[in-house]
Amino acid sequence: MRKLGLTLAVGTATLALSPAMGADQADQIIRGQYQAVLGDCSGCHTRPGGKPLAGGLPLETPFGALVPPNITPDKETGIGNWSDAEFRNMMKTGIGHDGVRLYPAMPYPAYTRMTDQDIADLWAYLTTVEPVSNKVEANQLPFPLNIRLSMWGWNLLNFKQTDFTPDASKSAEWNRGAYIVQGPGHCGTCHTPKSLLGADKDSSFLQGASLQGWFAPDITNNAQTGLGKWSEDDLIKYLKTGVNAHSIASGPMAEAVENSTSQMTDADLKAVATYLKSLGSDTGNAQPAKPDEARMATGEAIYRDNCSACHGGDGAGSGVLFPALADSSIVAQANPETLARVILAGSQAVHTTQAPTTPAMPSLAWRLKDQEIADVLTYVRNSWGNAAPAVSSSDVAAVRKELVP
Ligand code: HEC
Ligand code: HEC
Ligand code: HEC
Repeated sequence: MRKLGLTLAVGTATLALSPAMGADQADQIIRGQYQAVLGDCSGCHTRPGGKPLAGGLPLETPFGALVPPNITPDKETGIGNWSDAEFRNMMKTGIGHDGVRLYPAMPYPAYTRMTDQDIADLWAYLTTVEPVSNKVEANQLPFPLNIRLSMWGWNLLNFKQTDFTPDASKSAEWNRGAYIVQGPGHCGTCHTPKSLLGADKDSSFLQGASLQGWFAPDITNNAQTGLGKWSEDDLIKYLKTGVNAHSIASGPMAEAVENSTSQMTDADLKAVATYLKSLGSDTGNAQPAKPDEARMATGEAIYRDNCSACHGGDGAGSGVLFPALADSSIVAQANPETLARVILAGSQAVHTTQAPTTPAMPSLAWRLKDQEIADVLTYVRNSWGNAAPAVSSSDVAAVRKELVP
């Protein structure tokens, strides 16, 4: 792709290539822009409707709010004074300009696995983004967590600079998938459970975690809670369009699909699918206790009145419009937080060019009490091939409390 003097508007930001640039340089910038897509830099560093990479919306972390800073090449308020070596060091170690230790809300614990070549390409791209003057105060954490020195402790306990090591016994495709998932794609930032200090629990890699009132489900190949019932093609379709026969992406995953996975190349999506489908997980195959029959009957009645019109009497849904609840890994996750949230707040599916219709799930918070939602979810989670622990009204009340300001 060597079209000099042309403005490309793919993905994250408008790319200005000037005729004065050499072909190699232009190629490197285009490769770097693709790294920014894989890493979803704009997902955090661009505010909706704002200038590309000029600073994002506050991120809620378990410790407080952090605002993704301006990473355009503006010299005063962006990263225009950084060198390529400083940028590489930040991606590998989390130590930024002037030795500042960054909070791991910036996913360097995953980016540390990126190759020097990919980081250099990414840097080449970042230097071409339109400089924007926008001062962002990243650190809005409460005392004493706002003291960056405390990051020393966090880093010592939790963070190891790590290169990606290919597994020679696996195919090149598998290794490419492992690299994207563990490195630039930082899937574990959301899908891997965290310790109390906020570090990834590596022993449960990708087995599902709560974030910001959402639950990012198990994406290993586990048959009950994971992607065991999905084919590779199902997975590719979900990542490319946000929709497949099993599930529709919403919330933070809808954003990840829109900004990142829908723009990955077909070869990379195939590689990601090959890798994820190879991940076993040995937990969670024990059958949870069956809820009692009276509760199932109550739940079924609520389902018939409030849900079956869209999701079908047998939970089979209807094509891409209404997701199936039968044999659904989302429905069967151990943690019912996402489910309670979908019922209380409703949900709007992702827009992608491949799947332009966006069906919506209405908010039912006004219509159903906590106990009723708990009953209907308990019923759905234990019907049509699903088996998952019962939901209590206090589980639902906790999510309702988070949603009401
Ligand atoms: C999940 C959200 C998230 C994603 C994705 C993300 N960042 Fe960040 N980034 C942050 C946050 C939050 C900070 C501020 C951390 C701090 O101040 O301790 C940050 C800080 C930075 C900084 C330091 C800026 C400064 O002024 O100190 C750079 C550079 C940076 N990010 C580049 C990137 C690049 C390049 C990508 C894509 C490969 C990326 N980020 C993806 C959230 C994110
Ligand atoms: C910002 C957080 C975040 C990141 C990063 C993220 N995910 Fe997700 N993901 C989620 C959430 C939340 C859901 C649940 C969405 C829903 O309920 O509709 C999800 C759902 C999924 C599902 C559907 C699972 C199911 O059983 O329906 C797949 C597959 C998936 N993610 C794969 C990935 C891959 C691959 C990556 C990395 C390239 C990734 N995700 C990165 C948050 C994230
Ligand atoms: C008016 C139609 C409609 C009604 C009524 C309705 N839903 Fe939905 N539901 C949807 C649509 C559309 C989606 C997909 C939206 C999305 O994923 O963003 C959805 C998504 C869901 C999901 C998430 C599934 C997934 O794979 O991401 C669950 C669980 C769910 N609904 C359960 C219920 C339950 C339980 C009820 C009754 C209490 C109900 N719905 C009532 C239309 C409806």
